[in-house]
Amino acid sequence: MARGSNLGLLKEKLAAAEAITVLTGAGISADSGVPTFRGADGLWKNFRAEDLATPEAFERDPRLVWEWYNWRRELIATKQPNDAHKALAELERRCPDFWLMTQNVDGLHRDAGSRKLSEIHGNIWKVRCTGCGVVENNRDVPIAILPSCSRCGSLLRPHIVWFGESLSPDDLDDCSRALKHCDVLLVIGTSGVVYPAAGFASVAKEVGAFVAEINLDPTPQSALVDLSLHGRAKDLVPLLLEPL
Ligand code: OAD
Ligand code: ZN
Repeated sequence: MARGSNLGLLKEKLAAAEAITVLTGAGISADSGVPTFRGADGLWKNFRAEDLATPEAFERDPRLVWEWYNWRRELIATKQPNDAHKALAELERRCPDFWLMTQNVDGLHRDAGSRKLSEIHGNIWKVRCTGCGVVENNRDVPIAILPSCSRCGSLLRPHIVWFGESLSPDDLDDCSRALKHCDVLLVIGTSGVVYPAAGFASVAKEVGAFVAEINLDPTPQSALVDLSLHGRAKDLVPLLLEPL
C-alpha cells in the first residue's frame, strides 16, 4: 500500500481506538540529534557495549563507565524534544487511555510533556546508590567522578538498565497492562532486537490490537505488524494528529 492509504488507515484506527499504547526507541530522538545505537553513526558502532553498559563493566572500571555517561549527558543536555515527541504528548492529552513505553534514557518524552510513560531502560538524569539503592535526580553536567551517595557514601551508578539486568517489576507490570488492553500499538524508531521490548509487538498482536510501525527502514518486526510507515518520526508522527 502507498504511504497515503496506510497513513489514512492508521489515523482511522487511532480515531476509533479507546486505548492507545506506544513503544519508542532511539529513532524518535535521532531527529533531535541524539545518536542511535545501531545506526550508521550509532553508539554501538563506535563503542563496545560490554565495556560500558553492563554491571560487570561498572564493577571493573566505574570511572570509565561514568566518563562515557558524562559524555552522553553533555550531548543530550543540548538537545530538545522534536515534533514527534510533542505529537505523542498531544496524543496522550487527546486519548484518556494512553500509555507510552520508551527505551530511551534521554528524558525527551517527559520534556515534551508526556506523563503517562514507562522509561523502561531508566533515565540518564537519575542516579542510583549501589549501597542503599536510593534513586535521585541529578542533572549535573558533568557529574563529579566518582559520585557518592549523600545518605550512605556508597558509589552512585547511572539509573539505567544495562545488558544482563532486568526491567523493574513495576515497569513490566505497567507495560504488560498497557499492551494487553490496547486497541492500537504504535512502534516508533526501534530496531526491535533488544528484549523484552522487542517482544511487545507480538504481545499486542496476540490480544488483537492493531500494530503499526514507524521507522526509516524495515525491521525484524515488519513481517508481524499490520502496517509500516517508512520515514522520519518527526515528519510522520505529527501527521497522525491531523483530522481524518
Ligand atoms: P537502535 O539504534 O537499535 O535502533 C534505532 C531504530 O530507529 C532503527 O530501526 C532505525 O532504522 C530507526 N531510526 C533511525 N532514525 C530514525 C528516524 N529519524 N525516524 C524513525 N526511525 C528512525 O535503537 P533502539 O531500538 O532504541 O539500551 O535500541 C534498543 C536498546 O538498545 C536501547 O534502549 C539501548 C540499546 O542498547 C539501553 O540503553 C539499555
Ligand atoms: Zn546510599
